[in-house]
Parts: sequence; C-alpha cells; structure tokens
Amino acid sequence: MATNTYPGLEVLYTHQQIAARVAEMGAQIAKEINGEKLVMVGVLKGAAIFLGDLARSIQADATFDFVAVSSYGKGQRSSGAVKLIKDLDEPIEGKNVLIVEDILDTGLTLSYLRKLFLAQHPKTLRIATLLDKPSRRIEKIDADYVGFSIPNLFVIGYGMDYAERYRNLPDICLMSPDHPE
Ligand code: IMP
Ligand code: MG
Repeated sequence: MATNTYPGLEVLYTHQQIAARVAEMGAQIAKEINGEKLVMVGVLKGAAIFLGDLARSIQADATFDFVAVSSYGKGQRSSGAVKLIKDLDEPIEGKNVLIVEDILDTGLTLSYLRKLFLAQHPKTLRIATLLDKPSRRIEKIDADYVGFSIPNLFVIGYGMDYAERYRNLPDICLMSPDHPE
C-alpha cells in the first residue's frame, strides 16, 4: 500500500479499491430499484464525492437532492442533537429515496434524517454509506448498502474532512496521531 503519497498520512483504501467497491454498490442498487425512478439524497459535504461516483455507477433514472446537517454542541463532543441546515429542495412523498452518506458513525445523523424523511411518506427509503463504524453506534441503525466496514479510526479524503481539509484526496487515508495537520 502506498505510504509516502501524502506525508504523515496512511492510505486505508486507494481510489482504485474505492472505485471497484462503488461500482459493485451501484450495480446492486440498480438491480434493487428494478427500473423505477430514484432520488439520491446526499448529506453535505462529506458525501458529495461518493454521490458523484455512485450515481454514475447506477443505471437508473435518478435525480439528486442534498441536505446539510450539523450536530449541536461545542468541540469534539456532540450533544447528540442534530440540526437541519439545508432541507430538501423537492418533496419526496411517494418516491424511492436513497440517502447517500460518507460515514455511518454514532448513527445520530442518519437516525435523525430517516425519521424526518419517513414522516414525508416516501415510497421506499434506503441508506447507502461508503463507510460504517459499527463499534461507535449510539442509535440503532443499519445502512442497506455499506462500502467498507471499518474499526474506530478517524479517516479523511474522498470527501471526508479534518477541519474542512483533505476532502479532495482521491484515497481514503488515516491521519496518524503525530501528523502536523
Ligand atoms: P454520526 O453517525 O451522526 O455520528 O455522524 C456521522 C458523521 O460524522 C459523518 O457524516 C461524518 O461527517 C462525520 N465523521 C464520523 N467519523 C468521521 C471520520 O472518521 N472522518 C471524518 N468525518 C467523520
Ligand atoms: Mg457527513
């Protein structure tokens, strides 16, 4: 595995590994949508790159929408409450909705969105997450489609950030504790 592509960062999944897995996910999603229309709802900002690649690997009649959320509470520790910063542009009643997320971590974000969206009576509601950290779960929630299940590691790249940086790295990387930032 590449070690000196990014100084201080270790590559967890290369862009080639990600592309292969995203293609598999797209094929499965297309199969299960069974010729019907799909609304892909990306959770900003982390899922933007994943949504872009996933969408192009799904052969279906798809549209995009985006929501943005933030956790209440200062610093690293979230109070557990999630706030909607940007709502859906279009109603989802009667539609096949796929929430597209970068990481399913504590589950607070996706539990909040699932409840919010189910109240709008979509025809179906599914969740695709690129990464899953099941050991971190606070809210009981599973994704329908998971790219990679990982242990409790902090990752960056391929849309995911540390203090808003590194989203544009093509690979998913681990930030080592001695990384200077
Ligand atoms: P949760 O499931 O509500 O805890 O929140 C998941 C969100 O936390 C993800 O959408 C990410 O934005 C962020 N997050 C969780 N783990 C990481 C990580 O390892 N790197 C970058 N962002 C993370
Ligand atoms: Mg996120």
